Amino acid sequence: MNPHLPLSLDNTCVLVTGGAGFIGSHLVEQLIDCGAQVTVVDNLATGSLKNLENVIGQVHLIVGDLGDLLRWGRVEVNQYSHIFHLSANPYIPPSVKNPIYDFHLNLYNTLMLLEAMRESSKAKRLVNTSSAAVYGNPAHLPIRESDPTVPICPYGVSKLAAERYVAVYSQIYGIPATSLRLFSVYGPRQRKQVIYDFIHKLRTDPEHLEILGDGSQERDFVYVQDVVQAMLLAATVAPGKGETYNVASGKSYSIAELAQACCSVCKVTPEITYTGHIRPGDAEKWVVEISALQNLGFTPKTSILEGLCAIRDWYDAYDD
Ligand SMILES: NC(=O)c1ccc[n+]([C@@H]2O[C@H](COP(=O)([O-])OP(=O)(O)OC[C@H]3O[C@@H](n4cnc5c(N)ncnc54)[C@H](O)[C@@H]3O)[C@@H](O)[C@H]2O)c1
Repeated sequence: MNPHLPLSLDNTCVLVTGGAGFIGSHLVEQLIDCGAQVTVVDNLATGSLKNLENVIGQVHLIVGDLGDLLRWGRVEVNQYSHIFHLSANPYIPPSVKNPIYDFHLNLYNTLMLLEAMRESSKAKRLVNTSSAAVYGNPAHLPIRESDPTVPICPYGVSKLAAERYVAVYSQIYGIPATSLRLFSVYGPRQRKQVIYDFIHKLRTDPEHLEILGDGSQERDFVYVQDVVQAMLLAATVAPGKGETYNVASGKSYSIAELAQACCSVCKVTPEITYTGHIRPGDAEKWVVEISALQNLGFTPKTSILEGLCAIRDWYDAYDD
């Protein structure tokens, strides 16, 4: 068992929705390491069995849409003491293209899960995965949990509505629940987003790197194992009264700085060009206050350079 964990999850039955995804698969590995009996529900829309290859045979895998499986009684929440809800459309662009698809995956399915938990006498604890997108373009920095939430894309709206439902179900029906607002998560097995994109471009063409925007956008990049640490704290030591926590590293970098760091870990010196425009729904700047999560015992352990080296090594060894 991992000695850094606050409480043992040994022999507890745990459900991870979206467990074949990027973050979910790292969480599943850690839960198994803690001795938990893990069931994964995943429709493999953006996740993959390859992500679970280290633990195959040790997890109970149910493939299908979460909402359908709950409706058909193929997932019974009262079997689990902890539920980690990660299944979703996890990206802004599909939500801009098709808001109803995003609504179905992110809000409707979350409500289905909450309803199942409400009807269950035994299901204990929910950790819901929300997003920094709930803030939109923040009113001031650093971003605190109590700041106004004004999403600027459908994904931000569905994530905000889902976490509000989680809070209300917790308050009215007594479901112990916590929502985590994840900022820019990165690490091995992530095949989208800016860091993967940079490493992929640099490995494909070490001479040139084209960057979306003007490089001044700022983000807080948090390594996936640190996010897993936050999820385990949320499941074990958070009050579970529907509260929300920012999950970030507490340090922000501009996209230009990030590009330089990626070039440095890939040991290349490309010509860098900027497109000058950003995608609709993308915020300019995120600097994040994480003291609430730190008060639960959260300590981000992975520096940006360590994390970039890990993703580079994974890319070189496994990506296809
Ligand atoms: N990666 C980030 O930077 C980030 C930032 C903020 C929030 N989040 C949230 O974290 C969670 C996990 O994101 P991720 O980056 O691991 O993405 P991911 O796409 O790798 O994981 C999502 C998983 O959910 C599964 N899934 C999607 N719809 C489903 C459905 N209807 N039924 C069952 N399974 C379904 C997918 O197949 C996938 O395995 C998501 O809720 C996402 O919104 C991620």
